[in-house]
Amino acid sequence: MRGRARCRQVPRSPAGRAGSGRALGLDLSAPMLARARESARREDIGNATFEQGDAQVHTFAPGAFDVAISRFGVMFFADPVAAFANIGRALRPGGRMAFVCGAEAGRNEWLQAIAALRDILPMGDFGAPGSPGMFSLADPDRTSAVLSAAGFEHIDTARVEALGTWGQGADDAAAFLLDSGPGRHLTSRVGQELQDRARRTLTDTLRPHEQPGTLRLRSTAWLVTATRPE
Ligand SMILES: C[S@@+](CC[C@H](N)C(=O)[O-])C[C@H]1O[C@@H](n2cnc3c(N)ncnc32)[C@H](O)[C@@H]1O
Repeated sequence: MRGRARCRQVPRSPAGRAGSGRALGLDLSAPMLARARESARREDIGNATFEQGDAQVHTFAPGAFDVAISRFGVMFFADPVAAFANIGRALRPGGRMAFVCGAEAGRNEWLQAIAALRDILPMGDFGAPGSPGMFSLADPDRTSAVLSAAGFEHIDTARVEALGTWGQGADDAAAFLLDSGPGRHLTSRVGQELQDRARRTLTDTLRPHEQPGTLRLRSTAWLVTATRPE
């Protein structure tokens, strides 16, 4: 039979993909939850609820979830074994967990660009392997040990590399990097003169990555999967 292929829209969010299931979105940050609720409204997602809470200690209904998913959220746990054990208790026996977390800092072009500010901003060990925060789970052996100690099995780690859009050009991307997340934290610790110098240096560092109307940087992450034993 000939005819035009039907173009089916694949839902972007886990809740959209869950079909008849339900999803709970949990985050510490009220502004991030507001963005999530807005995305759900825009994508006409009716099966998701959102709660503000700390995944390390949040009282999830025990064994109530088939799968736990996180995109760049689980690297910030103060006590990762206790936190992942808490998440594991929320999964049904045989339930799965999947998350992405920062891999080697050296393979992330956005971090390399920020590293050019080392003489201007008080970076400390920011981005160093194993340092707390964004790269705390950059070592797959450590991640595997943490997840085993938290009671997970079938732990697998796969590298994911992608080109991401960071702005419409070097100025825009520098503003994004310095006015949010770690960049904002670092600039808040110095005066206006150093902030201006950091902005100019970062813009110059990013300039070679510009393409017409966009600025793209390569990032690398680990996709980690594990299951709660049956
Ligand atoms: C890098 S952002 C990623 C946000 C979002 N998942 C995304 O991909 O756009 C990290 C997020 O993890 C959240 N977070 C960090 N520690 C958390 C915790 N213990 N419990 C819940 N959320 C946490 C932060 O509030 C922040 O929204």
